[in-house]
Amino acid sequence: MSVLRLILVLIGLTMIVPEIATARRVLVTGSSQGHGLAFINDYAERGWTVIATTRTPATADRLNALADKFPNVAVEELDVTDFAEVDALAQKYANTPIDVLNLNGAINTFRVGRNIHGETDYALMEQVLRTNITGQLYVAEAFLEHVAASEQKTIAVMSAVGGSITNLRSSMAPSYRASKAGLNMLMRTYGEAVKGRGVIVAVIAPGTIDTENYMAIEDPATLSERDQRMVAANAYAPRHAIGKMIDLIDGLTLDDIGTFHKWDGTTLPW
Ligand SMILES: NC(=O)c1ccc[n+]([C@@H]2O[C@H](COP(=O)([O-])OP(=O)(O)OC[C@H]3O[C@@H](n4cnc5c(N)ncnc54)[C@H](OP(=O)(O)O)[C@@H]3O)[C@@H](O)[C@H]2O)c1
Repeated sequence: MSVLRLILVLIGLTMIVPEIATARRVLVTGSSQGHGLAFINDYAERGWTVIATTRTPATADRLNALADKFPNVAVEELDVTDFAEVDALAQKYANTPIDVLNLNGAINTFRVGRNIHGETDYALMEQVLRTNITGQLYVAEAFLEHVAASEQKTIAVMSAVGGSITNLRSSMAPSYRASKAGLNMLMRTYGEAVKGRGVIVAVIAPGTIDTENYMAIEDPATLSERDQRMVAANAYAPRHAIGKMIDLIDGLTLDDIGTFHKWDGTTLPW
């Protein structure tokens, strides 16, 4: 094949599959279900190179199915509270630029138990704080060089609307809310610490996203009681909220690190 013909073929290929020329890399934690799984699907569909972490790859069936479907998805084991495991994964990917580090994996006590005042489960509270605050910073620091070496240089921190102190109207889920409010401050200070490297640390509240398309289900009676209530109250953010967050993350600059972002592009009070 002549050199000219080879060049024409390569140009043609990059036009058909633009990601060949531009593939960016994302690492998403806690990706076996919920938002994490939806992020993996949507990033993979967009042609990103995806590192999907989960505590339990052996049983992460839906995630493994995505990895079978998309050759650009790699599944890795990661528990953010296991610092040796975090270090080992950071080492495995040493010298690999990561454009977006999506700190998604966390314990949501709205899902795993009430943990209300007067009945506080302190062991659970400590686990929530270690997972949702301490482990998040540990991962961010362990992967700082990977992010700093990338084009996009973004750490996207999944917080929660429930972490806004200004907007608080309920005593529900205090340890979860405290973990997200604490995470917000920790990541604001971390953002100040690393902005000189050009690294954008942005705090985003995803909302409760309808990742399973429950709003479209024919027979809501087949859902759990909680999901039936959510559907009846029209309380889910739409499935496309995940894609909107990817767009939001892609548009972030260092000017955005002082803002508590909501998935839809609006701003929340801290
Ligand atoms: N859904 C909501 O209503 C909502 C609202 C606001 C904010 N958020 C935030 O959005 C993120 C995702 O929420 P979700 O609703 O998708 O939650 P989810 O369905 O409960 O899934 C959370 C994931 O976090 C991971 N995780 C838990 N402990 C971990 C640990 N020690 N190390 C690493 N990963 C851990 C688990 O992933 P693996 O099993 O794969 O390890 C789990 O699948 C969380 O940060 C959550 O706080 C959710």
